Amino acid sequence: MKVNGTQYRSLWWDAELNCLQIIDQRWLPHKFKTQPVRTMQEFADAIVEMRVRGAPLIGATAAYGVALAMANDPSDANLDAAWTFLEKTRPTAINLRWALNRCRTALKLLPVEARAATALQLAHDISDEDVEINRRIGENGLKLIRDIAAQKPDGEPVRLLTHCNAGWIATVDWGTATSPMYQAHDAGIPLHIWVDETRPRNQGALTSWELGSHGVPHTYVTDNAGGHLMQHGLVDMVIVGTDRTTRRGDVCNKIGTYLKALAARDNNVPFYVALPSPTIDWSVSDGVSEIPIEERSERETTHIQGKSDEGAIGVVQVTPDGTSGGNPAFDVTPNRLVTGLITERGICEASSEGLAGLFPEMAQAA
Ligand code: MRU
Repeated sequence: MKVNGTQYRSLWWDAELNCLQIIDQRWLPHKFKTQPVRTMQEFADAIVEMRVRGAPLIGATAAYGVALAMANDPSDANLDAAWTFLEKTRPTAINLRWALNRCRTALKLLPVEARAATALQLAHDISDEDVEINRRIGENGLKLIRDIAAQKPDGEPVRLLTHCNAGWIATVDWGTATSPMYQAHDAGIPLHIWVDETRPRNQGALTSWELGSHGVPHTYVTDNAGGHLMQHGLVDMVIVGTDRTTRRGDVCNKIGTYLKALAARDNNVPFYVALPSPTIDWSVSDGVSEIPIEERSERETTHIQGKSDEGAIGVVQVTPDGTSGGNPAFDVTPNRLVTGLITERGICEASSEGLAGLFPEMAQAA
């Protein structure tokens, strides 16, 4: 996607400097900063500190981390060490482990001399595949948006609500939940997006930045507004991303997603999840009991980062001194609340049968 007229992916290989370049998302939406990542510690920090974030982007970043490890020392022992070191950076998004497993399995089959070049190529492949998967999710989601638009008087916008940032900077490009939005906007379908702020880290501000840069009309709303908007008939469809979806279609996503799904069900608003296949965890079924939920620092709840009227970026405390905060970063929406899963292979029911129908070879291999 474009930033100030220049086409970007959210990470890219810098062949001249021989390192990965990322967008340091801690500064968005106020500052657009890129950063080279050159050491294993910098890779881990980038993921832990959420310089890079979003399930697909975390996976692609980890694949480049493996490539660096293989360039340093392509032994089996170092490959296993890199897997362990990177895998513990964030616990919930399954794309991280998916990418690490894919790299380790492929590389272990090779002689050590071939590993460095192949590992880098694998990271490029994972990134390119992510872009294509998301483009296709967009094509499939676009059909849903077209159907809604067809039932509206000419010029009336399709009103979508999204939670967190499942946009192009959470992936390598396009985003998952945003891909249908970008494609619908580019196709001339009038849209209006309700963007949840998504406390505590306000990923909604990233979504607003993205949508604004692409010219997609949107309104940033507090996390508590969604139910009210749905009750008043102001939301035609919800589309969110996911960090891990179980084989039966339970959806783990940013904290607060479950509440949106409950409100959507109570108000007969379709609730769709944009799901790239690497985000399916075929090894788990019951999301509520089987998915580990990341507990992040309480400081993310008691403090907030923003820009002052004078333009300075800083952090302020919002709670009384000494207040303790609880910060579960994700929740699970049971499959019964999900209208459908928008994947790169089409849209399916959130169920074992639905997912196995679209991805039979993956379901069987699991
Ligand atoms: O904690 P984050 O910002 O990494 O969480 C991101 C989300 O929850 C996204 O909705 C999800 O990863 C899907 S991104 C395409």
